[in-house]
Amino acid sequence: MTEPLLEVRDLAVTFGSGRGWGGDRGRIHAVRGIDFSVRPGEAFALVGESGSGKSTTAKCVAGLQKPTRGSISFAGSPLDPARNREQRRAIQMVFQDPYSSLNPRMTIGAALVEILRVHRLAGSRAAAVKRAAELLDLVGMPRSALDQRPRAFSGGQRQRLGVARALAVNPSLLVADEPVSALDVSIQASVLLLLKRLQRDLGLTMLFISHDLAVVRQLCDRVAVMADGRIVEEGAVGRVLSEPSADFTRTLLAAATDLPPLDLDLDLDQDHRSPKRRSTR
Ligand SMILES: Nc1ncnc2c1ncn2[C@@H]1O[C@H](COP(=O)(O)OP(=O)(O)OP(=O)(O)O)[C@@H](O)[C@H]1O
Ligand SMILES: [Mg+2]
Repeated sequence: MTEPLLEVRDLAVTFGSGRGWGGDRGRIHAVRGIDFSVRPGEAFALVGESGSGKSTTAKCVAGLQKPTRGSISFAGSPLDPARNREQRRAIQMVFQDPYSSLNPRMTIGAALVEILRVHRLAGSRAAAVKRAAELLDLVGMPRSALDQRPRAFSGGQRQRLGVARALAVNPSLLVADEPVSALDVSIQASVLLLLKRLQRDLGLTMLFISHDLAVVRQLCDRVAVMADGRIVEEGAVGRVLSEPSADFTRTLLAAATDLPPLDLDLDLDQDHRSPKRRSTR
């Protein structure tokens, strides 16, 4: 069996010192000791209702939140809270709000070139510009986007640019925290389609966070269901969705959106609302 790329053991995060008037009641146990692992090339989903600890877990994996307890190993080595540049490069994050990863004052080209230079991934400025243009091709955006600022783009396009930013440094693991939750259902499909193509073409390993099991069904191989900081169910997506064992999973299933199946051959800019109906017309 393949070694896991990411291995999370007994991860716990508690907010608040518990030293105030409320004592321990003032503490928030966001994550209460969870274990999971992600194999290379796999798309692993963390799902759960609001406040169940998904983002806190994602931030710990991406090095943006210090765990209170537990360990995170990556490619066989433990990740310390103070990560070196190589460890920071290897795990990249895509956020729900692409504005949090794109500097509104910089053109897309300038931002991508800066990331490539900071991580010393381009020998010259010209090489960095060339690579930035290739990244836009990869996410299905026109090269003219290099000279524009984030506000020039729609939510779905901005999210694709957020993916380009994350992929700029050739990460081994992409952590995507609700990357389509803020988008219309019709736009969600174009971003999901992009991620699915990247899985197929780059063999990308993904930790995918969502509250929507319909999205997880489209994109992921395995899923862990979180509730109140714990993993209450875990397994292959097909099994968990067809025979959920936890009440929490059944509640999430009942709330899942009605997404049409993804067609990998569709154009990323096409309207994905009703691909089935269009083809039968
Ligand atoms: N920096 C923080 N300080 C204090 N409490 C926090 C902090 N970050 C998260 N929490 C709390 O930890 C718990 C888990 O939050 P988290 O953001 O991980 O949930 P989530 O599953 O991502 O929810 P959502 O679906 O709403 O994004 C919540 O009760 C939240 O209020
Ligand atoms: Mg969250």
